[in-house]
Amino acid sequence: MTGATRIRVTGERPYDVVIGRGATAEIVGLVGHGTQRALLVHPPALDDQVPAIERDLRGAGLEVTRAVVPDGEAAKTSEVAAALWSLLGSRGFTRTDVVVGVGGGATTDLAGFVAATWLRGVATVLVPTTLLGMVDAAVGGKTAIDTAEGKNLVGAFHPPAGVLCDLDTLRTLPEAELVSGMAEVVKTGFVGDPQVLELVEADPVAALDPAGEVLPELVERSVRFKAGVVAGDLRESGDREVLNYGHTLGHAVEKVEQYQWRHGEAVSVGLVYAAELAAAVGRLTPDVVQRHRAVLSAVGLPTTYDGPWPDLLAAMRIDKKARGSVLRFVVLDGVGRPGRLEGPDDDLLAATYERIRR
Ligand SMILES: NC(=O)c1ccc[n+]([C@@H]2O[C@H](COP(=O)([O-])OP(=O)(O)OC[C@H]3O[C@@H](n4cnc5c(N)ncnc54)[C@H](O)[C@@H]3O)[C@@H](O)[C@H]2O)c1
Repeated sequence: MTGATRIRVTGERPYDVVIGRGATAEIVGLVGHGTQRALLVHPPALDDQVPAIERDLRGAGLEVTRAVVPDGEAAKTSEVAAALWSLLGSRGFTRTDVVVGVGGGATTDLAGFVAATWLRGVATVLVPTTLLGMVDAAVGGKTAIDTAEGKNLVGAFHPPAGVLCDLDTLRTLPEAELVSGMAEVVKTGFVGDPQVLELVEADPVAALDPAGEVLPELVERSVRFKAGVVAGDLRESGDREVLNYGHTLGHAVEKVEQYQWRHGEAVSVGLVYAAELAAAVGRLTPDVVQRHRAVLSAVGLPTTYDGPWPDLLAAMRIDKKARGSVLRFVVLDGVGRPGRLEGPDDDLLAATYERIRR
C-alpha cells in the first residue's frame, strides 16, 4: 500500500486505522505477531476481494478459516453468530487468535460481536468495504447483532486491534451505498470539521468518486474526527453523543420504514430536522439550515419525508439513546459547534416536522 495514512485511536487499548489504496500488505501488520489462526468473515459480495487478504495471512503463517455470512443486515442474527462460535470452537481458536471482518458495517458489527464474546474477547481486525463502514461503523469499538425486538439490541464495546480501509474496495460498491455513507461524512462536516463540508460543496461529483482524490481526504478527515471523539468516550457516556447528530429522527425514520431505507438516507432527513429544530429555538440561522439541504441534496440524499408523525414520535421516545422519557437532540449552535437540546415540547417537534414534510 503506497502512501497509506495511519490514524491512532487512543484509549485503554489504542489501535490504528490505516487508510490507503491496495490492502494486501498491511493486514498482516494489524493482525500482529504470535497469532496462529484467523477467522475471515465476509459476505458473498466480497468473494473477489477476500482471496488477497487470505493469501497474505497464510503467507504470514496463519491458519485461515473463511466464513461466508449472509449479505448485509441478515448477518446480524444470533443464529449466524452461533454458527461462527461453532466454527471457532471446532477449529480450536484460542485467546491469541483473531477474527477478521471484511465487509460493510453489518459484517464488521457481527465480526466484532463474535470476537467480543468468544472466550470473553479475542482480537478483531476490521476491514470495512463501504463508505459508512470506513467513516463510522468500524471505528469506535461498538459491536452488535439484532433481535426480533429491534436493531443492535445485543452487543458489546470491543475496540478492534486495527482497522484497514482500502479505498480501492469502494470501486465495486453500488452508488446508492456510497451516497448513503456520505450522510455520515456530511454529518462530520457540520459537527466537527467544516473543511469536509467545503470539500463536498466544491465538487459533489468528485466527492463521490472512489478513484478520485477527494474521497480519500473525506474518509481521512471523518475517521480522524470520530477517532478523536471516541478516544475520550468509549462507552458513550458524554462526548460521543455528538456523533448522534441527525440520528434521533434518523433512527425513527429507519424504524417507520421497517429498515427498508438505508441508514444514511434516514440520517440525512434527520440532519435537516435537527437543523430546523435548532433554528426554531433560535440557535441556528436559516442560512445554515439551507446549507444542510443544499449539500445533502447535492450528493443525492433525501431532505424531506412524509411518514406519519405519531409513529415517528413514538419511535423517538423508545430509542435506546433517549435517557428516561426525555427526548434529547444534538443540535448546532453554528457549524462545528454541537450542543444539546433536551425535552423540546411536542408542539415544537410537530411544527418542525411540517418544515421537512414532502
Ligand atoms: N458499530 C457502529 O458504531 C455502527 C455505526 C454505524 C452503523 N453501524 C451498522 O452498520 C450497518 C450498515 O452498514 P453498511 O451501510 O456498510 O451496510 P452493509 O454492511 O449492509 O453493506 C451494504 C451492502 O453493500 C455490500 N458491500 C459491502 N462492501 C461492498 C463492496 N466493496 N463492493 C460491493 N458491495 C459491497 C454488502 O454486501 C451489502 O449488501 C448497520 O447494521 C448498522 O447498524 C454500526
